Amino acid sequence: MVYRWALISQKPGVGKSTSGIFLAQALYEQNHNPILVDADKGQSAQDWDEQAGGMPYPVISKAVRQLHRTLPEAVEGRGAVVIDVPQVEDHEPIAKGAMIFSDTWIIPIAPSPVEVTRLFRDDRFTDFLRDMQELRQEVGKSEAEVVFLLTRTNTSKPTKGGPDTECRVELEKHGFPILQTQIPFNDHRYRQVGGSRVRALGTPYERAAKELIASYSPGASS
Ligand SMILES: Nc1ncnc2c1ncn2[C@@H]1O[C@H](COP(=O)(O)OP(=O)(O)OP(=O)(O)O)[C@@H](O)[C@H]1O
Ligand SMILES: [Mg+2]
Repeated sequence: MVYRWALISQKPGVGKSTSGIFLAQALYEQNHNPILVDADKGQSAQDWDEQAGGMPYPVISKAVRQLHRTLPEAVEGRGAVVIDVPQVEDHEPIAKGAMIFSDTWIIPIAPSPVEVTRLFRDDRFTDFLRDMQELRQEVGKSEAEVVFLLTRTNTSKPTKGGPDTECRVELEKHGFPILQTQIPFNDHRYRQVGGSRVRALGTPYERAAKELIASYSPGASS
């Protein structure tokens, strides 16, 4: 197994499933032989798979606890695993297994400083991430890479002083890295449209995947 990525968020509706589909597609287009694991009972990834007429990589549904125990067998032989994890605030036990299994935790967030402030208002989320890192240590795993992904931004490139930049500054204050690549708001491209094929080529997700591979995929040889 080379790349093990999980899409994580405290709250729902931040772009996990969309990012999961497009990142897995990018991995596929870059010949990394991915599998997408839909760990959300809401089954957005599964729906997308159906509506797109079948993704060119497998999408499996596994909304269960203890993913770190069952996934190794289920994904054997694949070059990359992307997990669409349900929001932590309601599904902590499922998130835990996914986070022990994955080496990279990708946290999509809307580029609103209010969102960032809200996320760090109390220590719940940061404590949870720290507890999960400790749990990994206990089972003999190295620390996971944690990286934020700005989605639904106004622009595709970081601005000089827009809300995306304010978010970046705020997240950095809390010690978190952010992908240089950001995903602009694009209703047409990211809305699930029945029958339309998904392509990552030429979208920011293609660059996001490359950045994740280059800088946020520890132990990529194990
Ligand atoms: N870059 C984008 N531009 C425009 N719309 C987007 C973008 N990314 C996601 N969306 C839309 O935002 C909504 C939420 O996205 P998505 O389903 O990926 O989030 P999620 O975190 O998986 O949500 P949930 O927690 O409910 O599973 C969807 O309707 C999706 O089509
Ligand atoms: Mg989802």
